[in-house]
Amino acid sequence: MKPACSYAATHAASLANPAGFWAAQAQHLAWDRPFAEALSQDENGTYHWFRGGQLNTSFLCLDAHVQQGRGNQSALIYDSPVTSTLRTYTYAELLDLTARFAGGLRNLGVAFGDRVIIYMPNMPEAVVAMLACARLGAIHSVVFGGFAPHELAVRIDDAQPRVIICASGGIEFDRVIPYKPLVEEALAKATHQPAHVVVCQRGFVTAAMQLGRDVDFATLLQSEPVPAVPVPATHPLYILYTSGTTGRPKGVVRDHGGHAVALHFSMRTIYGLAPGETIFTGSDIGWAVGHSYIVYGPLLRGCTTVLFEGKPVRTPDAGTFWRLAAQHHAKVMFTAPTAIRAIKKEDPEGLLAQQYDLSGLRHLFLAGERCDPATYAWAGQLLGVSVVDHWWQTESGWPMLATLVGLEGMPAPRAGSAGHPVPGYDVQVLDEAGHPVPAGTTGLVAVKLPLPPGCFPTLWHDDVRYQDYLKTFPGYYLSGDGGYRDSEGYCYIMGRVDDVINVAGHRLSTGEIEEILAAHPAVAECAVLGLADSLKGQVPAGLVVLKDGQAMGEEQLEKELVAAVRARIGALACFRQVLVVARLPKTRSGKILRKTLRQLADGENFALPATIDDPLILDEIRAGLQRRSLGAAFETSPPTPPML
Ligand code: COA
Ligand code: AMP
Repeated sequence: MKPACSYAATHAASLANPAGFWAAQAQHLAWDRPFAEALSQDENGTYHWFRGGQLNTSFLCLDAHVQQGRGNQSALIYDSPVTSTLRTYTYAELLDLTARFAGGLRNLGVAFGDRVIIYMPNMPEAVVAMLACARLGAIHSVVFGGFAPHELAVRIDDAQPRVIICASGGIEFDRVIPYKPLVEEALAKATHQPAHVVVCQRGFVTAAMQLGRDVDFATLLQSEPVPAVPVPATHPLYILYTSGTTGRPKGVVRDHGGHAVALHFSMRTIYGLAPGETIFTGSDIGWAVGHSYIVYGPLLRGCTTVLFEGKPVRTPDAGTFWRLAAQHHAKVMFTAPTAIRAIKKEDPEGLLAQQYDLSGLRHLFLAGERCDPATYAWAGQLLGVSVVDHWWQTESGWPMLATLVGLEGMPAPRAGSAGHPVPGYDVQVLDEAGHPVPAGTTGLVAVKLPLPPGCFPTLWHDDVRYQDYLKTFPGYYLSGDGGYRDSEGYCYIMGRVDDVINVAGHRLSTGEIEEILAAHPAVAECAVLGLADSLKGQVPAGLVVLKDGQAMGEEQLEKELVAAVRARIGALACFRQVLVVARLPKTRSGKILRKTLRQLADGENFALPATIDDPLILDEIRAGLQRRSLGAAFETSPPTPPML
């Protein structure tokens, strides 16, 4: 690799002249047609990167490396303890499979701009499907396999896919989850119907096929290979749905050009990886982290990516992640803090890690939620490598705050902090009036426009909701997170300031859960809170007011509401607790005092809001939370002792 540049100079250059800076970064990639302008604005003021340019992400991830003589290098290592499979794919093999599968999709009528939904667990066929869509200029939308049929149906109706690609099933620990019946249930609920469902049959569960509509994945792999179609840089590569503050998910759009430039840059500067080196990202391809750092980032850079099908624990044990890193010679590992907490819970002394040679590992990157300092320290001492907490969102698609290990002069990572602004991001902490706050003061975390390449240029068919991110403070993207910057420039992201919660690194809308609870015939009104949880960061709990005359017991109501949330969103919501209360604390104008409720449950000191209509209700709720041991402040089990 070339000698590293300095962080300070690189960040300053990226803000002083964004167009020039990113035009230079774009030269690392092969363009079918050069862009006219690196950065431009349309008549609505929306920024676009690399308009006029043409390229293809699938070509850059596969063909480009094969053409440069890296065909025999490992591109993807599929390691699946749950199916006892270990298989390595070279760049040449992955290209061949992708080009053939793209040919098969084309034969099914999939063309430029068509949407394709992928509902599969972490398996190589899912990666092939993503790259094949990209190859045709079709737009994929991967839906996390843990979502229930209702959520899949909402995404089907929004994306209107020509084809759905699914696996016959997945495995959760030792439980087989047949996926095809979930797809059928979703299709029965959806208005839009795809022309075809492509099914990847897996040995442990066979899906029934519908004649005429369903096609075998393996059959499509026998098709003639097709070349990558050059697409405009601004053409959508994928849609990835994420939770907003309402029940309707937001379809984050990612384009081909900006995304490729940004991820290539990030692989070099944030993760410090050279072509041929290995990254193991312990996430799911259904999340932004999986899209960017299991699939696209590593392949754009010519790295080897480890695709792991399993969990950090019990598949088969809490040493799995360390085994993966050692066996596949990972230089960088990336996962969510909740995964490290799960490992720490089962192997507090880190004895399993000692069974593996981790001397090749350089860094552990964490994201998805704030890494609590105890987990940060535990991982650092166990692995003896730098632990880098870095901050990003589905919307950005790559980190906004980080410690960039590929740049010189970078201040060392620090526990509790997500680091410093990544080049391209002018991260600011603002007060409620939109003015920057002094160092050490908590405020709303925003990014000054233009956002760098790779960030979402819009929401799928919903520019109105896209503008919601930009309208609070003109000239800024509002992240929805609160935090502060200290006097040395370290940034701290402390949590959401809206109705989004983070459960085991998964983003959920409390508003959506409230909609489900409110639909129950016994419920008059409700509020869903994210309660602090020592393993999952947060878990949702419902405070419910019964309709007058309702005599349903708390236990029975809880059972029914838990089942309703599981059926509508999926088990991943981890919604298990309901507390019946007489009233909810509100302002005199009728707004539920959510922040106060959360502070109460977390045991934080708070000033009684001057606008509260009935302060006594808080005492009643406090007693209820205590009775049910809900919330950090009222947990009866002893706190985990600090390790090491
Ligand atoms: N398909 C079907 N069900 C799924 C699923 C999937 N893909 N993923 C999760 N679920 C189910 C689980 O089986 C569980 O069901 P249960 O309530 O019947 O037991 C439920 O959803 C909750 O799952 P989860 O929150 O994952 O809890 P867990 O106890 O199974 O595992 C962790 C806990 C910490 C090991 C796991 O959450 C994890 O690995 N987290 C990392 C998150 C991550 O990668 N985030 C991406 C950002 S980097
Ligand atoms: P998602 O879009 O699912 O990736 O979730 C993004 C949200 O996760 C952010 O808005 C934050 O609330 C949270 N998040 C992600 N990474 C971090 C981090 N390193 N520190 C604190 N919060 C984080």
